[in-house]
Amino acid sequence: MADDDALRRADPGQLLTIASELARAAGERARAMREEGISQVSTKSTPTDVVTAADRAAERLIVEELRERRPYDHVLGEESGAHRGDGGGSRVRWLVDPIDGTVNYLYGIPYYAVSLGVEVDGEVVAGVVRNPVTGEEWSAVRGGGAHRDGRRLTGSTVTELSQTMVATGFGYDPARRAHQARVVASLLAEVRDIRRFGAAALDLCLVAEGRVDAFYEKGLAPWDLAAGGLIAEAAGVLVTGLRGRPAGKRMTLAAPASVHGELHDRLVAWDAEGGP
Ligand code: IPD
Ligand code: CA
Repeated sequence: MADDDALRRADPGQLLTIASELARAAGERARAMREEGISQVSTKSTPTDVVTAADRAAERLIVEELRERRPYDHVLGEESGAHRGDGGGSRVRWLVDPIDGTVNYLYGIPYYAVSLGVEVDGEVVAGVVRNPVTGEEWSAVRGGGAHRDGRRLTGSTVTELSQTMVATGFGYDPARRAHQARVVASLLAEVRDIRRFGAAALDLCLVAEGRVDAFYEKGLAPWDLAAGGLIAEAAGVLVTGLRGRPAGKRMTLAAPASVHGELHDRLVAWDAEGGP
């Protein structure tokens, strides 16, 4: 019985330890497969939305390990969907992106990551994002700050929109992209510069670290946002949607309080949530 309780325990620190171990193992699997060469590439929502054998293998590794180590927890994986925990499940749900930045992975661009967010009762309480090429790992526990490799993160100190370096991303649907292109064209004239790196979870970690000042994107999935969103928030960055809504599919805006309001108002004015 005591063992059963331990398997259901929802301690964020313990969950973070597991997340970190799994991110390392899955990242290693993906990196090794990349070195052997890419095989079995198929497409998902559009011809440019790809999934590789490594996405599936890394997710399988994570799901199997979780079934073993946390059999009562629920899991939502980008590639394999929802897995219910045994016997009705625990209070914990894992949000798994086995490779965030799959297109970078495909091209051999070393900017992709395993992203693992852990919810307890629907709230993200722990998150890990790991780039297996550089070995950089960002993590956070709600209330415990955000860290990269032991260093506490506090976001950027930028104070003016005109000095703000903004990362963003685009969806896979061409019609959505056309709308996103209009928004980014307007923004480009008002900020220091724009970056499109290609992995939203890592972009949010860069905001946490102040390696870019801000990030916004329409259309993020829960597995793109869970870990990176918590990491940015735990670094003191505001992570929101527009017009008082929480960050999510309609819009995710992560920015220091000093420029969040101005960026928010621009995105509203340009109807960044709009379009397909
Ligand atoms: C994508 C990346 C990209 C973002 C897309 C995501 P995936 O995730 O995070 O940067 O712009 O919206 O779908 O497909 O590489 O897991
Ligand atoms: Ca992915």
